[in-house]
Amino acid sequence: MRERFRVVGGARLVGEVPVVGAKNSALKLMAVALLAEGRTTLTNMPEIADVRIMAELLRRLGVSVDYDPEAGVAVIDVPASIGHRADYELVRALRASISVLGPLVARVGEADVAVPGGDAIGSRGLDLHAAGLEALGADVRVTHGYLVAKAPRGLRGADIRLDFPSVGATENILMAAVLARGRTTIDNVAREPEIADIAEMLTSMGARITGAGTSCLVVDGVDTLHPTVHRVLPDRVAAGTWAFAAATTCGDIEVVGGVAEHLRSPLQSLAAAGCHVEGTARGFRVAVPEGAGRPTAFDVATLPYPGFPTDLQPFALTYNAVADGSAMVTENLFEARFRTVQELARLGADMQVDGHHVMTHGVPLLSGAPVESSDIRSGAALVIAGLVAEGYTLVSGVHHIDRGYPHFEVGLRSLGADVTREPDEHWYE
Ligand code: EPU
Repeated sequence: MRERFRVVGGARLVGEVPVVGAKNSALKLMAVALLAEGRTTLTNMPEIADVRIMAELLRRLGVSVDYDPEAGVAVIDVPASIGHRADYELVRALRASISVLGPLVARVGEADVAVPGGDAIGSRGLDLHAAGLEALGADVRVTHGYLVAKAPRGLRGADIRLDFPSVGATENILMAAVLARGRTTIDNVAREPEIADIAEMLTSMGARITGAGTSCLVVDGVDTLHPTVHRVLPDRVAAGTWAFAAATTCGDIEVVGGVAEHLRSPLQSLAAAGCHVEGTARGFRVAVPEGAGRPTAFDVATLPYPGFPTDLQPFALTYNAVADGSAMVTENLFEARFRTVQELARLGADMQVDGHHVMTHGVPLLSGAPVESSDIRSGAALVIAGLVAEGYTLVSGVHHIDRGYPHFEVGLRSLGADVTREPDEHWYE
């Protein structure tokens, strides 16, 4: 059943909210488990639909997955022999399925993974994934909509330099290199904390990796890996979402379990704009003192980590929509990630798109209206926009939001927001 959120405007969010395990780590760590025969346990797993899809993908490879969403635990039992095909039906539902590519080529010597179609945030190529695996000795080609990679005699270490620090390509090459013969160096890699999380799990399985968190990874291949128990790191994008929710609603939120160090760029911008940002014993806090007035708008240019994260760009737009003054938001990672703008315009935001820039002019209050989410982040950003809109806002496409934010409305309500989930039926259907 299709659902929407009814958001009543005028809330100042105050209180504390927990941060769960990172979606973009959890899904890859499930793929990492494929590299070792036996039972691997992942804890602090987020309760999101994407984990269920990834679990189904692993099951179709012959792996047993026991996922308890409430406990946040997934037990992944990998047999000696597993399949090598990820069907289009699953890959189109979950683009992160592509992360089984590296582990399957390394472990099975073969992978057939459907090529994901375009999605709502721009075309996202796989050329760097393919080139990296080819450098490791795999034969890679696209046949009938599948990326087919073969390395029947195993992979061998190589010196690889990425043209761009792609998160997904870094992960796939790393997950393949751990079982390659000899040494692999991967230069200009992504430095996201989720990559360090993968490297930490791989190391606990017996992999030999140095340089995690820097722009050059050095991997000395081993013959086999063993299963492990690993706790997923906290979700920095969810934590950043709450930081922007506090700033946008002129509220006061302690993000429990949030890691401020993973959000240095956005938190510095918020502090410079007049928000109070401090580390706490349990995480961090973002507050706009009561009566302090609207914080100021700020320029944003998204960049690979540790730059301003593209995943927080829609929240920066919503923030600037009601902040004091004008600012420029520049998207450097994805070509079509400005769908939020047209929906914010429906709410009365004053902003103009020019190529990969958006000029924003803050207004004191938006005006509630029906709007449509196009992806996880834009959906959550529109809900926050609804909180600073006069009247009420209906945000359709809640299934997008559910992919990244378990029980988003429950967290918002605990902070004083009036947000309810309701059916979203269309008269013409
Ligand atoms: N790119 C290529 N060729 C490649 C790989 C990437 O051209 O071989 C391009 C893409 O087209 C894109 C850019 O490089 O324009 C960035 O892609 P990257 O590979 O770094 O991103 P990703 O692995 O596809 C992950 C997250 C995204 C997040 C980006 C950037 C997952 C499942 N997804 O995507 O998260 O925006 O890194 O940080 O980890 C989200 O959570 O909502 C989300 C979209």
